Amino acid sequence: MDCYPGIDYFVALCLAIANLDKLNILGITTVAGNQTIEKVTDNTLGLLSFLDSDIKVAKGAKGPLIREKRQAINVHGENGVGDYQFPKIKELYSNNAVTFLRDAILAQEDKVTICPVGPLTNIALLIKTFPEVVDKIELLSIMGGATVGGNTTPTAEFNVWADPEAARIVFDSKIPIVMSGLNVTHSTGLYREDVNELLKSTGKVSRMCGEILNFYFRGDHVKAGTFTPIHDACSIMYLLYPQLYSFKHMDVTVDCSEGLNRGNTVADIREWFNYDETYPKVLLGVDLEKFREILLQNLYKLDDMSK
Ligand code: BDR
Repeated sequence: MDCYPGIDYFVALCLAIANLDKLNILGITTVAGNQTIEKVTDNTLGLLSFLDSDIKVAKGAKGPLIREKRQAINVHGENGVGDYQFPKIKELYSNNAVTFLRDAILAQEDKVTICPVGPLTNIALLIKTFPEVVDKIELLSIMGGATVGGNTTPTAEFNVWADPEAARIVFDSKIPIVMSGLNVTHSTGLYREDVNELLKSTGKVSRMCGEILNFYFRGDHVKAGTFTPIHDACSIMYLLYPQLYSFKHMDVTVDCSEGLNRGNTVADIREWFNYDETYPKVLLGVDLEKFREILLQNLYKLDDMSK
C-alpha cells in the first residue's frame, strides 16, 4: 500500500487489516500529500500502533518529481487525519520507500499488487530506478484521477494533480492498472447516519472511524452534508470484491502541460471506442448498498479483533 494517510485512507487501511486472511500486506510506503512526509509517516505509525499491527512502514518521497509541493490541510485537518490523536509507538522499518518496494517485490515468488492512493511519486521513482520490478507487478489499484472533471481544479483530481509527471510515468508504464477515479469514488462512501452509528459505537476502531469521518462533514466537498465519499477505500474494496464495480477499459493519458488542464487524466470515454485489457480498467459504477454493508461489517469486525 502506498499512501499519505488522510481520513479516508485510515478507513481504507482498517478495511485492509480486517481482511488479512485475503490480503498479505507486505508493507506501507508513505508519500507527502495532504501533509508533510514526517506527519503522514507518523500518522501511519500511529494508526498501526492503535491497531496493534506489525505491518512494516517505509518513508517515501518528500514531494513531487517536478512541481512544487501543495498540501490539502483544509480537507484532512491540521494534523492530517481529522485532528484525531494517535499514539506513535511503532518504529519506522525503512527510510527509503523505493528500495523497500524493490526488495519487497523481488523477494516474492508471485507477482505483487500495489495499491497507491496518493501522488504517484514513489511508484514513478520505483519504475524509473528499478525497471526490473515492472514485470513482477500484477496490478496497480490506484485511487486517482477522474473520467471527467476534478476536485482540486475543475479538471484535476488531487492525487494526480499533486504530481502529474509521476502519474504520467505510471499510466504510461504498461503495468496493469485499475483506476478508481472521482467518477466512481464520489458515489463510494457512507451516509451521515452510518457515521452517526459509528460515533455511538463502544468499539475502539469503529468509534475512531466515526470520529475522523465526522471531520469530513465539515468539508464543503461533501454532498449537502448527507454523504461522504471514502475515496481510498474504493481501491482496497476493489481488490476484495471486484464484483461490486462496473468498469470499462480505456486509454488514459495524464496532461502534464502548464495550462488549465494540468493533472487531468484524459480518459477516452467515447462509447464507440473499445480498448482491450492492456489498457487501464477504469471503474465506472459501484453497488453502494453492498459497499456500505461490507465496509461497516469490517470496521465492527476489527473492534472484535482488537479487543
Ligand atoms: C484523494 O485526495 C485525498 O484527499 C483523498 O484521501 C483521496 O486520496 C481524492 O482526491
